[in-house]
Amino acid sequence: MRIHFQPLSFLSTTAFVLCSIFFSMVVHAQEYPNKPITMVMPYAPAGPGDAITRLFAGSMQKILGQQILVDNTSGASGSIGTAKVAKSKPDGYTLLMIHVSHATNMAMYKNLSYHPVDDFEPIGLATNGPMLIVARNDFPPKDLNEFVSYVKANQNNISIANAGLGSASHLCDLLMMKVLGVKLTEIPYKGTGPAMIDLMGGQVDLMCDQTSGTVPPIKAGKIKAYAAANKNRLPSLPNTPSITEAGIKGLDINISFGLYAPKGTPPAVLEKLTTALQQSVADPEVKKRLDGMGISAVSIDQATPAALRAHLKNEIDTLNDLLIKAGVQPN
Ligand code: MLT
Repeated sequence: MRIHFQPLSFLSTTAFVLCSIFFSMVVHAQEYPNKPITMVMPYAPAGPGDAITRLFAGSMQKILGQQILVDNTSGASGSIGTAKVAKSKPDGYTLLMIHVSHATNMAMYKNLSYHPVDDFEPIGLATNGPMLIVARNDFPPKDLNEFVSYVKANQNNISIANAGLGSASHLCDLLMMKVLGVKLTEIPYKGTGPAMIDLMGGQVDLMCDQTSGTVPPIKAGKIKAYAAANKNRLPSLPNTPSITEAGIKGLDINISFGLYAPKGTPPAVLEKLTTALQQSVADPEVKKRLDGMGISAVSIDQATPAALRAHLKNEIDTLNDLLIKAGVQPN
């Protein structure tokens, strides 16, 4: 039997298939979202990232008219939850809220199962906030100056918590140890939520954590703050000195969270998500709640894919080098 190739019928079949794909994408985007969305926070509950994710999930679900569930798939410095999003269906129903570890995990984990840039679609930045050096309530030094000399004199007997290699708290710990010229015993957790429980209980001495995790327990008198890990004092804690007031330079950390979807999510779905994120960062209620955590919502022009893409590139370019130079070994 001979098969005759018929160019016209081949072309019309191809056109039909392409039209159907396009049509189903448009219909899908128009209907989106028509079922609950999952927002993955790749650190443990009750930490700074968890508080931020729950706030944005709550705000965006009102805007999008669909429930947004928070999924704390934690461990390995956020890389387990991040991998889960990278491998999920790119339909806008699985999102990732993450900070600096999206960049640093590239340097920390040689065998990452995803690429932070190539496997994700950026939606936009959400927040920006500083960090604080905090301690268990009965840590001996009375003020920042005493803290500096005490830590230098007792470095072999002091423990400092972090949320895993390449986390915000780990970066802050490394920089703090560098500027003070000390080496403390580092204790990794699955997030600063569980680390904070141990700090409040006195099982660990110190932590350098985001204000969204530290301001509430400081104000409740459960831990104490020695300094802002920033050039200036923080409006949320005006009575706490900046580390520079003890003559220490080179520590000025700000941490931003951003929202991502898996690569291949339809552009119209991404656009809806960016618009919802922009409405959230402009919402006075969201701003007020963030203010209570000592952090800020970004401006609307930062809640965009372009701003998050540029932010991630900058963090990959600057921080990974810092971590490798600090001698943090990739696994
Ligand atoms: C968390 O939510 O536990 C933190 O964002 C972890 C960290 O990076 O320090």
